[in-house]
Amino acid sequence: MPLAEWVDFPEHCADSGRLVAIEAGTSVPFEIRRVYYLYGLDTTSRRGFHAHKKLQQVAICLHGSCRFLLDDGHTKEEVLLDQPNRGLLIRSFLWREMFEFSEGCVLVVLASELYDEGDYVRDYKEFASAARA
Ligand code: TYD
Repeated sequence: MPLAEWVDFPEHCADSGRLVAIEAGTSVPFEIRRVYYLYGLDTTSRRGFHAHKKLQQVAICLHGSCRFLLDDGHTKEEVLLDQPNRGLLIRSFLWREMFEFSEGCVLVVLASELYDEGDYVRDYKEFASAARA
């Protein structure tokens, strides 16, 4: 089964442009409790390097593109995010790394929980042994 799960948001297209609405209880399979975004990203940097014990997220690249590496402790998968109407669902206990940010990339993340550093697993060995257990 692929690690990458996608959420496609309906678009309202007009000659003048496109609009996407994300409503609670519709396309995102959890209650959204936090929204954060990344911008001003260094195109040569790699970020992430963690998994979450409980948190679920949907990452949407609103402008430009970037790549995600997903890892469940057994399999690794790389995906490209470059569509503002398509979100990557990242379930709990998936290791993620983000990289190859395009110039001006803007990444928005919908999250199922408030920020909690205690929910992070930042040590890959700890993640891998827990994931394989
Ligand atoms: P982190 O989740 O490690 O970023 P990334 O996965 O993009 O590498 O967070 C970077 C810093 O920002 C870290 O010090 C925690 C802080 N932070 C918050 O304070 N609130 C938040 O909602 C998030 C996501 C991060």
